Amino acid sequence: MKLQGKVALVTGAGRGIGRAIAQAFVDNGASVVANDRDSIAVEKTAALCGAGCKFVPADISILENHELLVKKAVDEFGALDILVNNAGIQFHEKFLDARECNWDLTVGVNLKGPFFLAQCSARQMVQQKSGGIILNIASIHDSVALLDRSIYSITKGGVKMMTRSLAFELAEYGIRVNAISPGAISTDMNRQVLTNQQRLHRVLEKIPLKRIGSPEEIAGAAVFLASPEASYVTGATLYVDGGILTH
Ligand code: NAI
Repeated sequence: MKLQGKVALVTGAGRGIGRAIAQAFVDNGASVVANDRDSIAVEKTAALCGAGCKFVPADISILENHELLVKKAVDEFGALDILVNNAGIQFHEKFLDARECNWDLTVGVNLKGPFFLAQCSARQMVQQKSGGIILNIASIHDSVALLDRSIYSITKGGVKMMTRSLAFELAEYGIRVNAISPGAISTDMNRQVLTNQQRLHRVLEKIPLKRIGSPEEIAGAAVFLASPEASYVTGATLYVDGGILTH
């Protein structure tokens, strides 16, 4: 029970990595507010997680929603100790065809939303005077470019720098800020790769461990970084990628 008594907010928790993190946090003794813009999906997450999980459907790219999310944690569970900025989107689009609307949407969900939700959450944590944890889900594409997804890669590079910047500024309040950068994980975001044998083979060739990761393997890293075991870790990005970035 590494997170006993802690209260966490997890965005994009309606499926995939976010749902696995919500489940792992509850399994480790935390109370969780699960968020997603998909109300049916996030209600299902809460049902799967049980009594320790409440849900709030909301689009995190709309800044007006942030206070509502933090308030839900405080009203339901009395505090907010951990924020997981997990919600993310991507568009497949060549740079030469890139459209402003896709820039605005991707930056809104992957970077601007997480930045201001971190601000709103950190204000609550500072007020509580008992430290806190902010965990950002970036991507290996914070460091290596992904073909035809330049906007996505740019936002994830921004998330990595956001992690360092906030870790630096919030250290004096005992708030640790870290990121996890997953490699190829079996979620809906990767459906096109997972269902195409040729593309899957090409991806597996790049992964030293020779398999796709599971959402639970990202959740395990999230539990570690949110727990006291990681008490001296801040400003770090943990690559959970089966070794893709080794070569
Ligand atoms: P997913 O597409 O399976 O799930 C993302 C969830 O976020 C969905 O339930 C969606 O409804 C929700 N969401 C999207 N926009 C939202 C918004 N504006 N407000 C609230 N919720 C919103 O994605 P997956 O794979 O679980 O990814 C989670 C995070 O991990 C993302 O940030 C993604 O970029 C990152 N990641 C995923 C990798 C993978 O291989 N699956 C690899 C590297 C990073």
